[in-house]
Amino acid sequence: MDKPAIEFVEELYSKEEIEKMVTQFQEKGYVILPDVFKRETVDPFVKQLEEIMIFDGLKNTIPHNSPHYIHCAYTPRARQVLPYTLSHLNSKPYPCLNTTIIIIQKDGDTSYIPEWHKDHSPEGMPGKEYYYPSTVFLAFYFEDMTDEHGPTLTIPGTHRDLSIYPVDKNSYADVAVIPDNDDKKLPVEAIHCRKQDAVLLDQRIWHRGTARKAPGTRYIFVYGAYPIAHFYGTVTHMPESQLHAWIHAKNMKDRVFFGGYFAPPDREALKAMEKELDELEKAGGPVREFLRAAY
Ligand SMILES: [Fe+2]
Repeated sequence: MDKPAIEFVEELYSKEEIEKMVTQFQEKGYVILPDVFKRETVDPFVKQLEEIMIFDGLKNTIPHNSPHYIHCAYTPRARQVLPYTLSHLNSKPYPCLNTTIIIIQKDGDTSYIPEWHKDHSPEGMPGKEYYYPSTVFLAFYFEDMTDEHGPTLTIPGTHRDLSIYPVDKNSYADVAVIPDNDDKKLPVEAIHCRKQDAVLLDQRIWHRGTARKAPGTRYIFVYGAYPIAHFYGTVTHMPESQLHAWIHAKNMKDRVFFGGYFAPPDREALKAMEKELDELEKAGGPVREFLRAAY
């Protein structure tokens, strides 16, 4: 399989640029991160996606073991900004991926156009005080988005403001109106990023998809990340008794409590891991060994 053709801009943002972007993210609920990719390398990447695209029985996607599936999550500039959107701590948390969503819609396919919604209900914010989101979406659109391309629409500020609804609650009509003032449309903003940009979205914002009118296929990659505090500074293996508790967990709460976001590896995953370790070793390693927990 070909190496992903898309290339990153390695030069990091300045402190001032980050501050500006984080301020916009907190005020509006989304921000465009400019020039995270080298523009001329985006089209060749999209061409590769076309070649490896599969239909999994439900939707078009790409194989989850393809490097193309994860490649954009390495983007240095996006990774640089992410921790600042997740916590005010001086000792910034490590962002950790918890989900990947690949949206591929071929010509004219409008089967997945989400209506106005919030991915998360706001996490306790009755006043004006800012609460950091528990997860953030990092999204890539891989083309210059115009209204013709079916951009994501947002209502800026609604990640903090619970009084605004984009639908008329009596009729559920899909119009953005201010409650008690049906004449005045809410300020809806389309996210017009360029192919070399990334987007950070606070999932508490009202947002929706729109139908694409331009010819061609829509590719959107979304990576969800949440913060992990790292006061203890190291990544370790878990004690075996915890491993036991994780594997034998009888309910979701225990599974998450003992193991975190992902399920324990099953045989298929173990085989894949073994293969990866073998390849790493064959290539001369080093096969990285993390500490056992301090038990
Ligand atoms: Fe959504």
